[in-house]
Amino acid sequence: MKKENINTKLEIYICNFKRDTGENCCDRGAKELTDNLKSWAKKEYPKDIKVVRGGCLGKCSEGIAMSCYPEKKYVLDVKLEDEGEIKKGLIEALKN
Ligand code: FES
Repeated sequence: MKKENINTKLEIYICNFKRDTGENCCDRGAKELTDNLKSWAKKEYPKDIKVVRGGCLGKCSEGIAMSCYPEKKYVLDVKLEDEGEIKKGLIEALKN
């Protein structure tokens, strides 16, 4: 086993889970949102922000669901059009 420090200041996990039946984040556009935010973070804040394509967070009826660290908060009912607001929030969080 090997341990290594995590140096990114902010990490967000976006559920990309796809169910065969029922509500899920994938059907609401989670993949596109994740791809967009991952590209943006890698280009603009590669050392500070990590965007992770995650599995089910148990908030399926409230998706797209994200979990945010180090705040340890869920962000729920995220829509594709919230991308700009998410970016602004992350940039603001980096200042704190
Ligand atoms: S499918 Fe996204 S939280 Fe369960």
